[in-house]
Amino acid sequence: MAFPQSFIEELKMRNSLEAVIGKYVDLKRAGSNLVGCCPFHSERTPSFTVFPEKNFYCFGCGAGGDVITFTMRIENLDYRSAVIQLADAAGIPVPQDDDFAAKKQKEILSRERNFEMNKLAARHFHENLMSPQGREALEYLTSRGLAPSTIRRFGLGFAKDSFDDLYKFLLSKSYTVDEMKEAFLCGISSRGTPFDMFRNRVIFPIIDTSGRVIAFGGRVMDDSKPKYLNSSDTPVFKKRSNLFALNFAKNACVGTVGNSSDRVNSGEMILCEGYMDVIALHQAGFSGAVATLGTAVTPEQARVISRYAKTLFVSYDSDDAGRRADEKAIKYMTEVGVDVKILKVTGGAKDPDEYIKKYGPESFRRLMTGASGQIDYRLSEIIGKYNMDIPEEKLSMIEEACTLVAGVYPEMKREVYILRLSELTGIGKDTIAADIKRRTRRMATAQKKEIAKSGEEALRHYGDRINPDAMKSIKGASAEEQILGILLLYPEYFSRLSSDILCENDFVTEFNKSVFCELKGLYDAAGAGEVDLSALNEIFSPEQMGRIHAMYRKRRALTVNDVQTLIELCAVLKNEKQKMSATPADKMSVDDLQAYLAAKRSSQNGNK
Ligand code: UTP
Ligand code: MN
Repeated sequence: MAFPQSFIEELKMRNSLEAVIGKYVDLKRAGSNLVGCCPFHSERTPSFTVFPEKNFYCFGCGAGGDVITFTMRIENLDYRSAVIQLADAAGIPVPQDDDFAAKKQKEILSRERNFEMNKLAARHFHENLMSPQGREALEYLTSRGLAPSTIRRFGLGFAKDSFDDLYKFLLSKSYTVDEMKEAFLCGISSRGTPFDMFRNRVIFPIIDTSGRVIAFGGRVMDDSKPKYLNSSDTPVFKKRSNLFALNFAKNACVGTVGNSSDRVNSGEMILCEGYMDVIALHQAGFSGAVATLGTAVTPEQARVISRYAKTLFVSYDSDDAGRRADEKAIKYMTEVGVDVKILKVTGGAKDPDEYIKKYGPESFRRLMTGASGQIDYRLSEIIGKYNMDIPEEKLSMIEEACTLVAGVYPEMKREVYILRLSELTGIGKDTIAADIKRRTRRMATAQKKEIAKSGEEALRHYGDRINPDAMKSIKGASAEEQILGILLLYPEYFSRLSSDILCENDFVTEFNKSVFCELKGLYDAAGAGEVDLSALNEIFSPEQMGRIHAMYRKRRALTVNDVQTLIELCAVLKNEKQKMSATPADKMSVDDLQAYLAAKRSSQNGNK
């Protein structure tokens, strides 16, 4: 079932592109548009542009479309689910006359109930902590140095040593066992009895940036195992993309300059391993601290962090797992343009929590100042690996270090490391500089080749997944794109295209042909009314929509988009098509031949 056009129009009006995208991307004003770093590919400089009340486009990766396309892609939803989610957000009733819409709406409703249930559970745990039965737990938290105000701020709680305390409470609030199970609050025993997941543990609620409780962590108060129990993934919680205390840290990182929409990522964030580290840091005034939930940082978390932080201090443990986590942090954070500094606590402390307790906030601040950037960090890793007293090892170390330094930009910074290497190894500065220069040049050549190759391939549509046929006739495909661009701008021109000027069989590529057919279908369906381009989202994937959007944009940037131009382009396309068909079959490659035969077959069928 297609949604009525009036409904889609209202949906788009009530969900401004700016507001919806602004929830995911830190947008800055640029003239009448807004720009930010694209959420669909890694970039340092913003090429993702929002044209308010119209559409979005990424000049880097070609993602583009309207508010529905954006929602589909970022939330990984199909067309209908995206529409329902947007309608729900705006409080507009969804016209529903099929089961599917009802099912989707139910899903969204159940998410809402999950959030509500989590909130009640968090409140219940907190009340437990403050009740006489929570005395031991409160003493535990206090003994770990937490002030009452910190406990309140983080909404810490206590799960009683009971199998049904929370279960009974949630039941009284009319939640079902299935709902509790799905939210990871209860399990069901093999005998069918529901039981509380969190028992006899202090509780750390995990809260998202909109202030909703999405999950829980619970710690035992003795040495039993497992030390921490965490919610697994639920419909409202994905471990990979959430961070503990981000709800507080995001405000610590974002300063406001002038216009309130001009947010600046002036922020420094501190990434640590554990709940207690984060809470101790916040209590000591470092309110940019967050924790990954028991794992190394993921690319999803990196993207989230990059919305708020310019520099990330990574303070993982010094063990092997910690070092591997450091490497991942360097890799993923660099990809999203965040500077990483590796901070190692010293003085016999195991983690930031212990360090702050032992040495105080000022000392931690000094650790931050002294934290090494990634080149220093890598360099000391390399140096640590080899024994400098053995000539072969020393050579290997120099090899590795020179490769590292050769990749450092800008040149001034490279000079600094050349000097450092010379001092470290006792090898003359000029010798090292000459070696590094050679490596830098080699790297630059390799890079240039890479870029040239990818540019050429793009030109030939090589590896074009969206329109693989374009390779067969670059000129024809280009004419098609221009024709479609004009028709997307002015669907009313369809009335001027008699089938001898242009018909679907004139197209040389399947993808463009399908765009033409669908667009024509929409035009015919609209009667005298306006054509609803949003409906294309129902047929094409967000990636394909990006391509369609690019055609529209390219044409709109040109001043002449009149019927005459359109008709001329149609003639160009027809000509290309003819040339293709005229290629003698014995000169065609097998692939081309098959495509030719297939095209011929389909055109014959089409003419029947
Ligand atoms: P650690 O074992 O380093 O504990 O685990 P910690 O943070 O220092 O905890 P305290 O100070 O003893 O209370 C680091 C993080 O790894 C996750 C938790 O997020 C923990 O904070 N973890 C650890 C688990 O999820 N489960 C476990 O059993 C242990
Ligand atoms: Mn600890």
